[in-house]
Amino acid sequence: MTEQNEYPESGRVPARVIGTPPADAPIEEHDPIHVPAGVEGVIPQDPVKVRKAERMVAFLFLITFLAGAAFIAAYVIFQVGTIDKTAASNYALGGTLALALLSLGAGVTVWVRQIMPKYNLVQERHLMASDGDTREYVKETFLQGADESGFVKHRLLRRTLLLAAAPLGLAPLVLLKDLGPLPGTSLRHTVWGEPMKGGKPRRLVVEGTGQPIRAADFNSPGGILSVVPEGYEEDLNALAKATLILLKFRPEEIKSGTNKNWTIDGIVAYSKICTHVGCPAALYEQTTHHILCPCHQSTFDAADGAKVIFGPAARPLPQLPLGIDEEGYLVAKSDFKVPVGPSFWERGDAEAEVREKA
Ligand code: FES
Repeated sequence: MTEQNEYPESGRVPARVIGTPPADAPIEEHDPIHVPAGVEGVIPQDPVKVRKAERMVAFLFLITFLAGAAFIAAYVIFQVGTIDKTAASNYALGGTLALALLSLGAGVTVWVRQIMPKYNLVQERHLMASDGDTREYVKETFLQGADESGFVKHRLLRRTLLLAAAPLGLAPLVLLKDLGPLPGTSLRHTVWGEPMKGGKPRRLVVEGTGQPIRAADFNSPGGILSVVPEGYEEDLNALAKATLILLKFRPEEIKSGTNKNWTIDGIVAYSKICTHVGCPAALYEQTTHHILCPCHQSTFDAADGAKVIFGPAARPLPQLPLGIDEEGYLVAKSDFKVPVGPSFWERGDAEAEVREKA
């Protein structure tokens, strides 16, 4: 170890210097600023600048408080559901939280850079546990740092920091609300089971355009459409469970796994929600009738009840019972007979029950 890394005053021999090496000429030699006794190399901040910085930090902490409170208010005010409402909620939550964290970070940065004193820091490294002298030195340094931070001395800063942190501390608690309530039986049902006004069955409409579909118009074998329930075209919660894929087969192509009583002129509807972990499964290979889920490559045979032929999914895509209304449009005769999407522990053996009744 070289001589320049030794501390003759303290009698301790440092193993290594961390950070910028000490300047060739000690700062004290050419810096006229008063150095407090007992604190080597400390350069106190200009008191005028400190007062100015204090006001700036307090202002930033107040912004943090207001943005944090606005985050909680936005969580209550902006309800998710439709695409527009969900987007507004995301913008409000993201914007307010970002502003709160930015202003908090800026406030702490100004505090450290313009209020706390500056000095050269030399840190020692030891291969083994530190001795008693060193631990005492660390303790003193920590207490010195706490004193220099001015947390006790600057009452305005201390209070505005605590004020700023309060809403941010509460924010995670507010988000806990999303863990409940328990879903009850809602995972077993979709909106396909709800009739329209006047008791009419619910039509299938094309995703994106909202066009209802006549069985006679969907007449090209090998065709596929992404379909949603009429009246719920923008309801993301409903669509997360109710979106369908509609496929057209020649009658001779449909195998025994598909419930033919639920088809109309070779048109079959399956849930688009993969039974593995819920990705949209809609990559379709016309020649093999395979539906592929892009997430983990589960593959379903659309001509044979969408049974699993490859991949981690454990059960077929549920089939929706199709009907036709008096105007020739495709409608849902009822809800799915089994829950859609990933399996869950209260599901029981719903598929076996359906197979027994079929
Ligand atoms: S979510 Fe479809 S294979 Fe995993």
